[in-house]
Amino acid sequence: MSFTPYDRPVRAAFIGLGRIYDLNMRAYLDNPDVEVVALVDPSEERRAERAADWPGVQTFASAAELAASGLEVDAVEALLPIPLHEEGVIELLGYGWHVNLQKPMANDLQAAQRMVDVATANDRLLRVMENYIFYEPLVKLKALATSGDLGTISGYHMKMVGSGHGGWDVPSSSYHYQIQQMKQGRGTLVFDDGWHKLATAIWLFGPIKEVRAWVGGTEVFPGIEVDAPTTVVWEHHSGIRGVWDITLAPDMYLRSDYYTNDERWEITGRAGYARVNRCTGRGIQQPSLEVYVDGEMRSYHALDDDWGSSFRDSGRHWLRWLHTGEGPMLWSGEEAMDVLRFALATYASSAAGGAGVDPATVT
Ligand SMILES: NC(=O)c1ccc[n+]([C@@H]2O[C@H](COP(=O)([O-])OP(=O)(O)OC[C@H]3O[C@@H](n4cnc5c(N)ncnc54)[C@H](O)[C@@H]3O)[C@@H](O)[C@H]2O)c1
Repeated sequence: MSFTPYDRPVRAAFIGLGRIYDLNMRAYLDNPDVEVVALVDPSEERRAERAADWPGVQTFASAAELAASGLEVDAVEALLPIPLHEEGVIELLGYGWHVNLQKPMANDLQAAQRMVDVATANDRLLRVMENYIFYEPLVKLKALATSGDLGTISGYHMKMVGSGHGGWDVPSSSYHYQIQQMKQGRGTLVFDDGWHKLATAIWLFGPIKEVRAWVGGTEVFPGIEVDAPTTVVWEHHSGIRGVWDITLAPDMYLRSDYYTNDERWEITGRAGYARVNRCTGRGIQQPSLEVYVDGEMRSYHALDDDWGSSFRDSGRHWLRWLHTGEGPMLWSGEEAMDVLRFALATYASSAAGGAGVDPATVT
């Protein structure tokens, strides 16, 4: 596509002003790359609440109203409920706006491809925002993986525990859409939050050759099943193997400023290992990154390990890209489709009793 960076601040609008707006908006605050020009949400209450962040900025009940207003917009931050992603993104691209979309991009490859095709047809950019790859301890982990300090990397391990108590309030509207997703076989741990975990594997070690998975379920409320315990194992084309286990601790309190998700990442090399101890929640109260080599442990005490900062930095990266063209975009719509293929291979493998599935073959 023929994108030319803007030689002035990007004029941006937020489409959707729910829970995650609180973190996404951090990229836009005091940022000379952008000028926020509009806020969109059907909820009058949300519009009024968020308008206080941007004095003088116009608010609209729908994207169509914004488009009809004549206000000039270059790019939008699409913070829509997941079931509205496809329809919403196609509409937004149709207005001639570049789109920064939240994950999961779409529930299936056909929907994702339609979104990418509409972006191309409209000569607009579609980015699928991945904030984890801007989380400083993980950025440092990637640097360690390629530095040679740990020797040749042989393994990657992620652990994720969904706990039931603590964290911030999540509006009932978010749960409404989550349940809708669950009913379509796209669970909150494997597919929604899990999208980030799968993305880190591709980001760290490249394309995936084979996935083997066992997706389980636990009834947390009558008729509502959460997709854990789940175990996913895979091999990258490079030969590096990964494993990700998801467990549920519904009665466990986890201190968190955000969601109550206890996460860990560990890479093992021939000469040592490196471990990220936490991310979304404030689980293990040790330095967020520890590195072991030659009998010595090195701890990182001064990283920005606030999960919220990863939203700020991912968003700033996008706005910088639009303003200056400094890339790569991280991730383009096409790149995000590889994350979707990884997720779909996970489901296909589990449905086949854990058989190996090449993500390139899922349809
Ligand atoms: N990156 C992450 O770690 C992360 C974390 C949480 C959520 N998310 C993603 O962010 C997105 C939004 O999630 P949320 O938790 O903020 O949901 P939410 O339910 O709290 O908010 C969604 C908002 O969209 C509004 N809305 C509904 N239809 C709309 C329309 N047609 N036009 C404009 N606004 C509309 C709703 O009124 C609501 O205010 C989802 O894609 C979700 O997966 C990402």
